[in-house]
Amino acid sequence: MASDRYIDFVNSDLGRKLVGAVGLPAPARLERWQAGRLRPVEGALLLSTGPLAERVSAFAPRLTDVLFSHGGEVTGAHPWTAEQSAKIKAVVFDASTLLHTSQLSQLREFFQPILRHLDNSAHVVMLARAPEAQSDPLAASTQQAIEGFSRSLAKEMRNGGTVQLLQIEDGAEDQLEGALRFFLSPKSAFISGQVIRLSACDQQVQDWTRPLAGRKALVTGAARGIGAAIAETLARDGAEVILLDVPQAKSDLDALAARLGGQALVLDICAPDAAAQLIEHLPGGLDIVVHNAGITRDKTLANMPADFWDSVLDVNLNAPQVLTQALLDSGALHENGSVILLASISGLAGNRGQTNYTTSKAGLIGYARAMAPTLKARGISINAVAPGFIETSMTAHMPFALREAGRRMSSLGQGGQPQDVAEAVAWLGQPGSGAMSGQVLRVCGQSVLGA
Ligand SMILES: NC(=O)c1ccc[n+]([C@@H]2O[C@H](COP(=O)([O-])OP(=O)(O)OC[C@H]3O[C@@H](n4cnc5c(N)ncnc54)[C@H](O)[C@@H]3O)[C@@H](O)[C@H]2O)c1
Repeated sequence: MASDRYIDFVNSDLGRKLVGAVGLPAPARLERWQAGRLRPVEGALLLSTGPLAERVSAFAPRLTDVLFSHGGEVTGAHPWTAEQSAKIKAVVFDASTLLHTSQLSQLREFFQPILRHLDNSAHVVMLARAPEAQSDPLAASTQQAIEGFSRSLAKEMRNGGTVQLLQIEDGAEDQLEGALRFFLSPKSAFISGQVIRLSACDQQVQDWTRPLAGRKALVTGAARGIGAAIAETLARDGAEVILLDVPQAKSDLDALAARLGGQALVLDICAPDAAAQLIEHLPGGLDIVVHNAGITRDKTLANMPADFWDSVLDVNLNAPQVLTQALLDSGALHENGSVILLASISGLAGNRGQTNYTTSKAGLIGYARAMAPTLKARGISINAVAPGFIETSMTAHMPFALREAGRRMSSLGQGGQPQDVAEAVAWLGQPGSGAMSGQVLRVCGQSVLGA
């Protein structure tokens, strides 16, 4: 894996001075979730007023020990003051009551006084309603306006801070805890500027220390890179894991499966009998399937050989579709299960030399959108996770200039870690995360590509 020496440099005493003097970007060292940690927010959580914020205040003591209110009284919270209160680690702003242009000034009034008091790697979540659910056009316009604000605020955050907007549909209020445990914690360190829709879902996590307990998960391409990180993270959260990869990766796969107490399954997902073999190895069925296996065979279209095109489309798009259909038809994928497809922001933005790869990744996004309504009746969610620049052996082999551009052209000014993608997948695999379906979750540090 490539190491980002620039981050080490700018976070040294000398580097900080030099970089500040010449105005170079200064990416922060992001705080990440450490095994054994219990509290999603280690520090002060600031809550606004409003009906959704009131819902949050009911479980806020499970998120943090230090709760403040800002802009009005909130049950169980002390009023925040710039002079006397601790630095702020997390913020929840309820924008659901903003229904007219004149009320949008509340955004400036709420956020301006607190921005200089945010701690490093602070996480801001704005809560709103679905604009199209508003019958008054001015209310719909106002709810949509909040999206523009949240994406810009994400770009203005400093020191590793992030901002997300969660649009809460009627009935989805009881899924706020799961979402905030993710988006207010270092589990979402490399996610920023995202707009996520939550719908009603009748499932709940039973034990927050092991949110995936009792769930069985299959991860394809699990021998190394992002897939290995996903398998580790799902196992950490209590899932029983089945790790799948090609025969050439058998020794790495076996070693990881043994370490995680999981099962190794050597299989080429493009083999003609792959679906039949997979079902045979899943007698008890499963709850989570993560289609992570993927390949690149880069060439400009003018030079693209047919086998480069075919193999990428086959592994990245056709195999996940065929295997998902087989898991559904056979009933191997349980009710209330989760399907997670590893796409890429290049599937949204396009990329020179990757017509085959970006076609496959955009196809996965379309597949998630198209399948979601049908799977809803079985409580199954399907989403695409779109990583941006992630520090893996794949990106370590990129030419220097491209690698640097990939890292710095984002609000967080750096590449992500495989763990960042794995945390997003683990969240989507939780009971209750079915509240999100048919969507794309970008894990890209708010990359400018495809934004
Ligand atoms: N690394 C990044 O920056 C990045 C960015 C965006 C998206 N992604 C996507 O994330 C996923 C994982 O990426 P990575 O960087 O860890 O890749 P990687 O090459 O390190 O790992 C991919 C794994 O998939 C396995 N695999 C390939 N073909 C297979 C087949 N036919 N059957 C079974 N297994 C097969 C490989 O053996 C390998 O273990 C891929 O889908 C990739 O497109 C990665």
